[in-house]
Amino acid sequence: MDTEIDKAARIEELRADASDCTRCDLANGRTNVVFGVGNPNSPLVIIGEGPGENEDKTGEPFVGRAGMLLDEVLRECKMLRKHVFITNVVRCRPTKLEAGRLQNRPPTADESNACITNWLEPTIATIQPLVILCLGAPAASAVIHKSFKMTQERGQFFESKYARYAIAGLHPAYILRQQGEAYDAARATLVQDVESARIKVIEARKEPPTTLF
Ligand code: URA
Repeated sequence: MDTEIDKAARIEELRADASDCTRCDLANGRTNVVFGVGNPNSPLVIIGEGPGENEDKTGEPFVGRAGMLLDEVLRECKMLRKHVFITNVVRCRPTKLEAGRLQNRPPTADESNACITNWLEPTIATIQPLVILCLGAPAASAVIHKSFKMTQERGQFFESKYARYAIAGLHPAYILRQQGEAYDAARATLVQDVESARIKVIEARKEPPTTLF
C-alpha cells in the first residue's frame, strides 16, 4: 500500500464491498451504507459512532446538525472535510421504535464488532493515519481502550494499535444537547481536541517512521 492512488483505489474497493454488507442485522433497516468521506491519504481519521437519519438517507457521515457542528469546528481549526477522512464505528443506522417513530440508538457490541472487523479495521489499515480522533465513547472504546472514560480521559493522547496517536473528544451530538454555558464549554473542548489532533499530525510527521518499510 505505497502510493496515494493505491490507497484511494483500495478505499473504493472496500466501499463497494461494504455496499451490500449483511454481516449484522443493521442491514435490514438501512437505506444506505455510510462508509466514509474525505481524503484516504489524510494523516488524520475522525471516527464517530454511527449514522443517524440524515446520514442513512444520504450515505454520507455527519451531514445532520452534529455534522454541521463538526464542520464548523474543523473550519475553526483551519480544516475541511477534504483534509481528513471521516467514518464511524458502524456503517448502518441503528434504530429503535419509540412512540411510533424510528429513533437512533447506540450500536450493540455485536453490531460494533462486526463493523469494526469487516470495515473499520481494513479502512484504517489502508489509510494508515498518524492520528485518530474519536468522537464519543463508542469510538474511543473501539480505538483506545475498552473502558475509556470520557470525563477522565478526553483530550489525552494514547497509543493505539490503529495509529501512532489516538485522542477522544466529546461527540458533537452530545454537545448539541447541552445548553448555555455548558454548551459553550463542551464546544470549546471539541475545538481544543480537534486542534490538538491537528498539531499532533504536524509533530508526528517530523518523527522518524516507526517501521523500516
Ligand atoms: N453521529 C455519528 O456518530 N456519526 C454520524 O455519521 C452522524 C452522527
